[in-house]
This record gives sequence, C-alpha cells and structure tokens, in this order.
Amino acid sequence: MNKPIRKAVFPVAGLGTRFLPATKAVPKELLPVVDRPLLQYAVDEAREAGIEQMIFVTGRGKGAIEDYFDMAFECETLQRERGKDLSALEGTRLAPGNAVFLRQQESLGLGHAIWCARDIIGDEPFAILLPDEFMKGAPGNGCMKQMVDAYEKVGGNLVCALEIPMEQTPSYGVIDPGARDGVLTEVKGLVEKPAAGTAPSNLILPGRYILQPDVMKILETQEKGAGGEIQLTDAMAAMIGKQPFHGVTFDGRRFDCGSKAGYVEANLALALEREDLRDHIRAFATQELGIDSVATAA
Ligand code: UTP
Repeated sequence: MNKPIRKAVFPVAGLGTRFLPATKAVPKELLPVVDRPLLQYAVDEAREAGIEQMIFVTGRGKGAIEDYFDMAFECETLQRERGKDLSALEGTRLAPGNAVFLRQQESLGLGHAIWCARDIIGDEPFAILLPDEFMKGAPGNGCMKQMVDAYEKVGGNLVCALEIPMEQTPSYGVIDPGARDGVLTEVKGLVEKPAAGTAPSNLILPGRYILQPDVMKILETQEKGAGGEIQLTDAMAAMIGKQPFHGVTFDGRRFDCGSKAGYVEANLALALEREDLRDHIRAFATQELGIDSVATAA
C-alpha cells in the first residue's frame, strides 16, 4: 500500500525576470490567466487530486501570495453589505492548517527551494507543482489527479512527461526513457538543460512531480548544477535505480506561462472557452487577424 499524497510544495521564490517589469512588484505566480492567478489554478489542481496541505516556498517581495490566500476582510465585508455576489472568491481562502508559507532566502535554484520545505514534508511522499506551468486537464481530471492515480498503481517517484519539439530541449529537464506501458514510461535517466543535439529524448519535465522524501537527503549535500543552481533534476536522477521512477503522459493541454508567448496563449485559450467571453474574443480575434472564417468555425 503506497502512502497517500497529502502535501504539495509550490516553489514560488523565483525572480520572474522574463516578465519584468510586471514582476517588479507583483509575483509572477499571481499574474492572472483571464481572472484567476496562475497559483490559484495550481492550488485547485492539487486540491482536486486529494492534497490537503499546500506548502508555499516564497521569498522577499512575495508577501502578496500570503495575503492572497487569507481572508479579504474589507472587500468581503463591503461586498456582503452591498448584497454583492462573492462567489468569485470561493476556494481562495486557505485555512491556517492547510497553508504553510516558508522563505527561500536566496534564489539558489528549484532544488534548493524544495529542500527549504524538508521539515514540513517529514517522511511522507509529496507533490510538487510549478505554478507557471499551467496544466489544463478535463474538469475533475487535472494533471496532478492523473499523476496521483498513476502513483496509486506503481508508487515510487513520478514526473509528468511531455513531448516537445527536439530543438526546445536545451531549456528543460529531459527524460532518458525506457519501456512504455500506457501512460507510464520508465525513467532511466534525467538530464537538466542538455546542450543542443545531446538530449536523450524530446520528453521533458513540465513541472509536476510526486517524490519520495528521500530526495531531501540528496538535496542536502547537492552541488550546483546547470546554470549554477541547485537542480531538482540532478537530485531526482540520483534516485533512479534505487526506487521505482516513472514518467506520466498527461492527457490535457500545457501552457508554459513562464514564457510570454505561453502566457498569452493561455489567456486566449481560456477566454475562448469561457461562455461570458467567447463570442467577444472570437469576434475580436477574427477582426484583428483579418479573417472571416474564425467567427463561424466553431
Ligand atoms: P524559473 O526557472 O521559471 O525561474 O523557475 P523564475 O525566477 O520563476 O523566472 P525567470 O526565469 O527569471 O523569468 C521555475 C520555478 O521554480 C521556482 C520559481 O518560482 C518557479 O516556480 N524557483 C526557482 C524558486 O522557487 N527558487 C529558485 O531559486 C528558483
């Protein structure tokens, strides 16, 4: 019987330099896709997978994240007095026991950010969600839910595995794949940001993980890797062969909201799905692109 996944770590201490100046005063993770912050989608995804405790590894200038998950006292009181609808705030308040905020004092890398949560994780397996990777599954079957379902079958460590064009692999952690069985691919090796032309496959790690707590011991003594940062990928690679390690192919859409193009794509895709916005956005896009057929295509 595999221990259940009850805790999720959200590393949100990065500087978000690709979104400057927007991220000068607003954490990247609170940038909205339509009207919900990226981080809210990730928390919803974890909750849907049965995860109870959300652990946020924040840093200086990220205090707005803590406020975001608190009660919005003035706003809620005023809106209630005015008889206004408060449903937009549903799911945005986390009870004290369900939210933990920690600080990574220096941006030493994703691996170091995860290690900052070691005392809260203890000896339990846990999930990691990178909120700037927006993973959109069918309602009730998000990326982390699919990973937890796979974990219940095979246990051990799992990473989400995503196929991308080969030439983009130098920007990501890449899987050296073994045998594939349905959505599961055996992971034989992992390499962070391989040099162009050297990636073992075009299967990358798009920021969803289920890991055994042993990874914390490896991170404790880990040297800096690619980009001079303490890399989670290197710590995971050290566990391969000692514990089961699988990639899970996600059934859904992924938007890399850490990049400007991916962020704009996510906003457009979601707006086109929303009943209150769809017609307006479709008409605008049609006009903007100078094509008539889009308006009648759907
Ligand atoms: P990124 O590589 O996207 O870095 O981090 P970043 O700082 O957020 O953004 P850019 O590249 O400067 O625009 C991937 C994830 O790891 C977290 C980030 O917050 C993001 O969720 N991270 C990264 C940390 O928490 N700490 C770090 O030291 C580095």
